[in-house]
Amino acid sequence: AESYPDVHRFSGFKKLADEDLSFFRSILSDSEILQAKADEDLALFNEDWMRKYKGQSQLVLRPKSVNQVSQILKYCNEQKLAVVPQGGNTGLVGGSVPVFDEIVLSLTQLNKIRDFDPVSGILKCDAGVILENADSFLAEHGYIFPMDLGAKGSCHVGGIVATNAGGLRLLRYGSLHGTVLGLEVVLPNGEILDSMNALRKDNTGYDLKQMFIGSEGTIGVITGVSILTPPRPKAFNVSFLGVESYEAVQKTFVQAKQELSEILSAFEFMDLNSQRLTKEHLKDVPHPLEEEYPFYILIETSGSNKEHDDVKLETFLEKAMEDGTVLDGVVAQDETELRNLWQWREMIPESSQAGGGVYKYDVSLPLKDLYSLVEAANAKLTEKGLLSVEDTSKPVISAIGYGHVGDGNLHLNVAVREYSKDVEKALEPFVYEHVSSKNGSISAEHGLGFQKKNYIGYSKNDQEIKMIKQLKNLYDPNAILNPYKYV
Ligand code: FAD
Ligand code: MLT
Ligand code: ZN
Repeated sequence: AESYPDVHRFSGFKKLADEDLSFFRSILSDSEILQAKADEDLALFNEDWMRKYKGQSQLVLRPKSVNQVSQILKYCNEQKLAVVPQGGNTGLVGGSVPVFDEIVLSLTQLNKIRDFDPVSGILKCDAGVILENADSFLAEHGYIFPMDLGAKGSCHVGGIVATNAGGLRLLRYGSLHGTVLGLEVVLPNGEILDSMNALRKDNTGYDLKQMFIGSEGTIGVITGVSILTPPRPKAFNVSFLGVESYEAVQKTFVQAKQELSEILSAFEFMDLNSQRLTKEHLKDVPHPLEEEYPFYILIETSGSNKEHDDVKLETFLEKAMEDGTVLDGVVAQDETELRNLWQWREMIPESSQAGGGVYKYDVSLPLKDLYSLVEAANAKLTEKGLLSVEDTSKPVISAIGYGHVGDGNLHLNVAVREYSKDVEKALEPFVYEHVSSKNGSISAEHGLGFQKKNYIGYSKNDQEIKMIKQLKNLYDPNAILNPYKYV
């Protein structure tokens, strides 16, 4: 309880007792139960990826079947034992770890591919399948998972659905609200909602699965996912560009859409400070562009015909360089170079964390205003005397901006030497006010979780919040699922 002085354990929740352990032992095998011991505090499950949030759970359950999940939840609901569903624990808003002594329900061992139809491209799998494993399986069949993100080696298919993650190719394949065709979900009372549809079109009543996509483990535990996957592109190109201003980033985006049209599969931008931090972190790896530029852009194309794509990319680059929009750039010549260019984008999260900690804001803003938040945050931190790259007595190392321009999604990361209340107070609710004043969203993709639990009002109105609470109360009247988070 000491960890969060402003939040209190809900006294209506039962504390774990011997009889509960006996029950769990009656339905789970030894390898499916992890208990904290004197010398082991289950840190891997209690602490989040940013090392910013830490709970004190004494028990992790790792069921291997949907029926076990159902029995666990039915029991916890009857006993009023609080539960945190956990996937790969790569979430960035403190939603995936307990706040106090909640039981961690880990989906790690529910990890089988169930079915794949090579004609329609529909994949059905358990929620605990790691994203990269799902994608490797699909690659063998000539298909690709319709989303990609830096955490692919750890995050679960069920976890990305629970957060409605966006990632690096949303621009091409759309959001999970469109690609997920069906879900299997265990409700807080243990009932199993089996709606593992494999239909693209089904207009028979409410589309119930949508309620769970992005619900962050608050109204059900996702155990199965049915998803439409597209054919794997045969040709990929990546180019890494340097431009002079944020205006030039926008101009390049318009040109890229026009010239590359259907083969454009990612358009990411990064500011200079994000690259400086990444350089520091990657040490000996040379940056793709020798000179520094205020902004960088990574463009990926993917299609079915390499020559066709090459011609399009060349034409686009020629035009953009001729008119001075793009100042410098490189194009990957092989798979190794392609991965190398991507790493200057994908390693930013790790690099911004490496100095001690990071305050993350993932927001949606109108494109013209996207970068304004980074400028405002820098001004604010400087004014408060909290920021210095060199002076190690200041808490903030750098406030950087990068993100998914194609989706209107900015990531503001404030890299710190250590987590500090002063920095948090300078940024919150300042950042949320800024976003709300521009009619943006305070979470484009990471969700609300624990970090933004008090700030939902900046992006949802009273009527919306009322309906969210009504749904929560209806399906989880004892509020056992992922408590202390946004609902
Ligand atoms: P967890 O972190 O374990 O859980 C996340 C939330 O979902 C929690 O609230 C949890 O309770 C709930 N949950 C998990 N599994 C289930 C389930 N089966 N049923 C019900 N609830 C469940 N996000 C993006 O959107 N785009 C990115 O580009 C992106 N890049 C990232 C890069 C890095 C390096 C990292 C560390 C994270 C990144 N993320 C990104 C954050 C993103 O939210 C997660 O990677 C992913 O969505 C979480 O999946 P997970 O399995 O780790 O879920
Ligand atoms: C990203 O786009 O890299 C992610 O959403 C992760 C992050 O912001 O740290
Ligand atoms: Zn992102």
